[in-house]
Parts: sequence; structure tokens; C-alpha cells
Amino acid sequence: MNPIQNRIDQMNQKVHQTREAGLYFYLQPLQELDGAWVTTERGRILNFASYSYLDLLGHAKIDAAAQAAIDRYGSGTHGVRILAGTLPLHNELEQTIARFKKTEAAIVYSSGYVTNLTTVAALVGRNDVVICDKFNHASIVDGCLLSQAKFLRFPHNDMDGLERRLQQVDPEAGKLVVVDAIFSMDGDVIDLPEVSRLCRAYGALLMVDEAHSVGVLGKTGHGIEEHFGIKDAIDVKMGTLSKTIPSVGGYIAGDQALITYLKHVARAFVFSAALPPAQAAAAKVSFEVIEEEPERVRMLQRNVDLFLNGLKARGFDTLYSETPIVPIICGEDEKAYRMAKLCHEENMFVLPVVSPAVPAGLARLRANVTAAHSEQDIAYALDVFEKAGQAVGVLQ
Ligand SMILES: Cc1ncc(COP(=O)(O)O)c(C=O)c1O
Repeated sequence: MNPIQNRIDQMNQKVHQTREAGLYFYLQPLQELDGAWVTTERGRILNFASYSYLDLLGHAKIDAAAQAAIDRYGSGTHGVRILAGTLPLHNELEQTIARFKKTEAAIVYSSGYVTNLTTVAALVGRNDVVICDKFNHASIVDGCLLSQAKFLRFPHNDMDGLERRLQQVDPEAGKLVVVDAIFSMDGDVIDLPEVSRLCRAYGALLMVDEAHSVGVLGKTGHGIEEHFGIKDAIDVKMGTLSKTIPSVGGYIAGDQALITYLKHVARAFVFSAALPPAQAAAAKVSFEVIEEEPERVRMLQRNVDLFLNGLKARGFDTLYSETPIVPIICGEDEKAYRMAKLCHEENMFVLPVVSPAVPAGLARLRANVTAAHSEQDIAYALDVFEKAGQAVGVLQ
């Protein structure tokens, strides 16, 4: 049989078997998203699978901005900005991001995934080297492969490993180091001060993916530099507009020369249509709301403490997470599926993550806590996790 068809059939079989066993939790139809709650076929249940870390989805001011943009400009853009023209909204969004991230300029793309893909591929090529943390997001990995640069990886958050990689490459080669700020499966934070020091010492450019850290890290939610109390540590600041920011899209913030370069070289900017006006307007206002309503960041950080401490006190392994992304380690894939099923039966929406997305033996529930959760919600979730953990043997 054609090996392509073989691959398609195998995946279909796996999905079918998981469905038949009642252990398929993906692509759930959602009728409503409402703060800490979500309405599924089971009814209105507690949501621990949201990326809306600051609970900005449905914020009245943000929705009004999106609606006003549709009223003024319609639902779509009419092509790529470089040729078809750029709306003031796009420029204003980029200025807002640059100000928020304390850089000279910014560029927005149509998704976070595409931002990583196109930026890495625009910055490095055949004769360069790109060095990644082993747990970097798939979009960074795909960008590295697309770039055709020499692609090296170092063990997760291991600074000696990074230094060995930097020592091993040709000193004359162009070098780009790319890391996540918060790792999307483990919820831990990159050792930014040391990564930055090493990049400076070895003449490498540093790109950091802040998909999960904007609105989350730092006293006022400005991200990883604020978290560590350092400035100018990052050359290429990447983020998405689809998690804390309730829109869609991605951005790079950096110095003016970098952004001008990307606006003329990055293929997803030059050959792909602009963000729709409603999404650009929503994103712009969202950055403003983070600054206008600082209590949201405080609430999120309080909830992270409550949730993580509660899980640890009950004996769960949450790896090195110190953020709203909390891996609840279950071990074998089967245990993670069974835990998820028990949680769903207790009206909790939380998803299992299994191999190959995470290493075999480290299957987990990936629970996200947000600013929308109340103390009671968290207390309820902790009790449900504990009961489920005991039932499937994750807790003794
Ligand atoms: C670390 C990281 N980078 C990039 C992306 C891609 O962002 P988007 O979903 O906005 O395309 C994600 C999405 O899950 C992510 O977790």
C-alpha cells in the first residue's frame, strides 16, 4: 500500500480506538466560554484548559473595539500589507506592542505559529547555526527546519549544555539562540539571565517566545524581563495574540532595523494577508487593558500559588512549574487518559497530554489556572484531582 495512505490509516485507527474506549477528549464542541466555565455536551463545567490567563475573553472594552473596527473597515483585509496597504489599526497595534515590550518597533503576523516559522527562517539560513532548548514549541522547531540552518539543541534549561553548543560552532557563523520563556508543556521558566549572558559572550542573537508569559510573568504582566528584573536581555521578542490577548496573531518586537528587515524579508509578512481589522483592534486594546487593570495579574499570580501549593501538598508531581501551566504527572499514557475521564465525570474540563507530545512515562494532565478561577473553584479542582489520582494510582 502507498505509505502515505498507510500513515493516514494508522492515525485514523488510533483515533477510532481511543474514541471507542471513551478516552478521546480532543476537539470537544464548546457551546460557550464564560470565565472559569465552559459549556460542553455535559453542560456547564469548570474549565482548566484555557489560555485566557487574565480572563480577557469577552471583556466589554475589547469586544467593543473589535465591533467598531468591523463597522469601520469590514470583516477582512484585502491582501498583504506591503502591497495592498496597511490600515492605521495595524500600525497602532505594532506601536502598542513595541511600547508594551519596551522596544523600538514591532511587526504582527497572522498567527503565533507562523510568527516563529517565518522569523527563524528569515533570520538564519544555510551557513548559520540555530540553537534551541530541547523543549521549545513545535513552531520554533519547524522554523529551524525550514531555515536550513544547522540545527542544534541543548538539554532542557541546561545552561552548561547551551554553552557547550555555543563553543562547538564556528565562531564566524551567524548564531541564533531560540528559547521559550515559559515552556508550554511543563510550565517552567527559562533561565533568561544566564541564556542572555551566554548569547552576549558568544556573539549569538537571542530570540525568546513569550506566548505564555505576556500578562503572566512580572509584577505587572509585562513578561519575562520584568520577572527577572532585567532589561535589554532579548534581541527578538516573540509573542502571540491568542492566549492572554483574546484575539489571534503573533508578533515580533525589537529594534527598528530588525523590524524593517522582517517587514521586507519574512515570507509570512510579504506573501500573506494582514490580520483582520477586528482582531488587530481587539489585540491593541487588550495590551492597554492589562495595564489599566493590574488586579488581573495579581489575581492570576495568587491563583497560581494556591493551585500549585495545593497540588504539591496532596502529593502530586508538578515538575518545575511556577506558572499557570501546571503538568500533573500521571506516568503512563493510560493513567493520564483515565484521570482525565474521571475529572470530566466530575464536571472538570482538563486535557491529557501523552507521548509523543511529551516524553514516554511523563504523560500528564495539563491544567491551566487563570485569573477567572475563584478560591472555591480551585479548592473543588484540588479535591477532584486528589480523588482521581487515588483512583488511578497516581497518588498512593
Ligand atoms: C510556546 C508557543 N509558541 C507559539 C505558539 C503558537 O501560537 P498560536 O497558537 O498563536 O499560533 C504556541 C501555541 O500553542 C505556543 O505554546
